[in-house]
Amino acid sequence: MEVIIRKDADTGCLLGARIIARYVREKPNCVLGLATGRTPLRLYQELIRMHRDEGLDFSRVTTFNLDEYVGLPATHDQSYRYFMRENLFRHINIDPANTHIPDGTAADLHTECRAYEERIIAAGGIDLQLLGLGRNGHIGFNEPSGSLRSRTWIKILSEQTLQDNSDVFGSRSAMPRHAITMGVGTILDARRCLLLAFGPPKARAVERMIEGPLAAICPASALQLHPRSTVVVDEASGSALQFADHYRWIDANKLPWQRYD
Ligand code: F6R
Repeated sequence: MEVIIRKDADTGCLLGARIIARYVREKPNCVLGLATGRTPLRLYQELIRMHRDEGLDFSRVTTFNLDEYVGLPATHDQSYRYFMRENLFRHINIDPANTHIPDGTAADLHTECRAYEERIIAAGGIDLQLLGLGRNGHIGFNEPSGSLRSRTWIKILSEQTLQDNSDVFGSRSAMPRHAITMGVGTILDARRCLLLAFGPPKARAVERMIEGPLAAICPASALQLHPRSTVVVDEASGSALQFADHYRWIDANKLPWQRYD
């Protein structure tokens, strides 16, 4: 696992955007796995800026989002389809037909989950998967104690996730309790994973993900098994890391081709 500690969320997001932009330039028809939530917003803004000012071209890019709430139509302002359209897709030259998000309103959710996996395979697999981190260690909506080999499925959201995400719904009862999410196994199949986590509330989960045991109770710890995973944290979210100096040392001694700056 490559661990990169940056001063703050802003510089961490700019770095994340550079990593993604490099991928898109090297492989214009790449398949990106995307995340929603507060964490990647600044990264998306930077990708939009790169598209506008530097001509970063998304016309041949395909995307698959990690998850979607069950029962929310694409028109709902808290659906992840809506989030992606507002915060990224409508600002860049991506073909909407190439953007995939699980359909949380499908009449048969099981069939939708299987079909989502098949669509990822048909697209050639995910080249780079962007991830955020839940305070409870979740990635996607893979909540603690779920299988580390799970595939896209319907998951029950934990109380912690309801607590963390319900503010935008107005009340806890208004927030869906179920979501379709790529499984941990689906995420680990991506050729590369890029996880961002910022701020003091994420410190404990960051420490468990990077330095804790590989354990289903912290689904993000499964990234320890991935041959190419990069984790970008800031000083605050990295504050509980025991080996922070080691990660800084590695970062400072990278060969030129291993650097992103
Ligand atoms: C979102 C997702 C979640 C979030 C995580 C962190 O698509 O899959 O795992 O990345 O809950 O959310 P924020 O970024 O809002 O702290």
